[in-house]
Amino acid sequence: MKTVLLVFGTRPEAIKLAPVVRELENRPGLSPVVCVTGQHREMLRQVLDVFHIHPDYDLGIMAENQSLSDVTTRVLTGLERVVAEVAPDVMIVQGDTTTAMAAALAAYYAQIPVAHVEAGLRTGDKYSPFPEEINRRFVDVLADIHFAPTEHARENLLREGVDPRRVHVTGNSGIDALLHVARNVKALTAEESKARGLLDEVPSELVSRMQTDPPPRMILVTGHRRESFGERFRAICHALREIVTTHRDVEMAYPVHLNPNVRTPVYEILGGVERIHLFDPPGYPAFVWLLSQSYLVLTDSGGVQEEAPSLGKPALVMREVTERPEGVEAGCARIVGVATESIVSGTTCLLEDSETYGRMSKVANPYGDGRAASRIVDATEEWLGRSE
Ligand code: UD1
Ligand code: UDP
Repeated sequence: MKTVLLVFGTRPEAIKLAPVVRELENRPGLSPVVCVTGQHREMLRQVLDVFHIHPDYDLGIMAENQSLSDVTTRVLTGLERVVAEVAPDVMIVQGDTTTAMAAALAAYYAQIPVAHVEAGLRTGDKYSPFPEEINRRFVDVLADIHFAPTEHARENLLREGVDPRRVHVTGNSGIDALLHVARNVKALTAEESKARGLLDEVPSELVSRMQTDPPPRMILVTGHRRESFGERFRAICHALREIVTTHRDVEMAYPVHLNPNVRTPVYEILGGVERIHLFDPPGYPAFVWLLSQSYLVLTDSGGVQEEAPSLGKPALVMREVTERPEGVEAGCARIVGVATESIVSGTTCLLEDSETYGRMSKVANPYGDGRAASRIVDATEEWLGRSE
């Protein structure tokens, strides 16, 4: 029996590793152990509950408005004991958070092999996204096995000199999670959704507006990138306000990330604006419902860029650069930057040009087919077998 230690700490890591945990549980020769760092508290708990994941270890490191050094040192120190106690055959980390970076370093210090899910994403700009670009490069330096979601990510790794035998193109496991949840959410009628409390975390005013016939065009917004904090974030908020005030048929749903650097400008600039619905981040099924009901998404999130095309929603990316060029190349995403004018004009174009909208909403998802987790676990199993 081989022991696989999975370490994660934030909402997107949990969503993307949940299908991998499930798949590992179904393999007789593999024993998964889950350690959450608790880099996120409430937003992580929401995902663990939805996917029925019961962590074996919880480092509970989150502090209000934590610094990057806080997260790094607490994860590193906390994991020392866990890694020693579990003595895993491999540690799996996901993506580019500081949890993933510090966990991979903790594994390396203990001379435990590292497997990296969502390897090879790059912008080439070390401060964008910050600190994720360096976190993921760092993990890829330490990793022994790389699960690249796309061919493009694989090429990035090979260009950096990674041995091609250690790279597997698997698709993104986030799409596995999305398709699983979307199937359940879409199958529910409005009454069933209500009875199951699916939409309890979405403002009731928004839910009832979405149930009018015809429903309004709803723009779903998410934003939380560190490199945008301050003036850029304020510029984003001004753009959102302008879009809604100039398009009277548009509703805006904005689940506001719990980071105080996000909440302060958002509530200050957008609080009380007609047809803008601000609310705390809902759990994953309610978010998937919102995505399915939306007309388009305005986001700086990595995961949301990947998910939107599966539900036929164009994504406008509020960043200068993206490590996910596949969506832009395929035609389901556009970069609109972080300046007020460019966000407003990019969104207006999509709201007013139905031909472009139609084209963008019909692109097949370039990020995955919903079977990434089984490929990841197959390759892990094979690799562990070889390293005996
Ligand atoms: C982190 C990741 C980012 C990822 C994002 C997903 C790093 C450096 N950043 O950014 O890559 O895209 O998660 O959302 O790893 N907070 C709560 N409750 C929660 C979660 C956060 O109150 O459940 C608040 C806390 O005050 C916390 C702050 O948000 O200190 C920032 O959390 P942190 O994980 O450091 O950064 P994120 O911006 O969430
Ligand atoms: N998500 C969610 N509730 C929300 C916003 C996002 O469940 O209010 C999900 C979303 O569907 C995606 C993931 O969280 O799977 C993305 O997380 P986030 O944007 O925080 O991080 P990133 O992907 O940018 O690292």
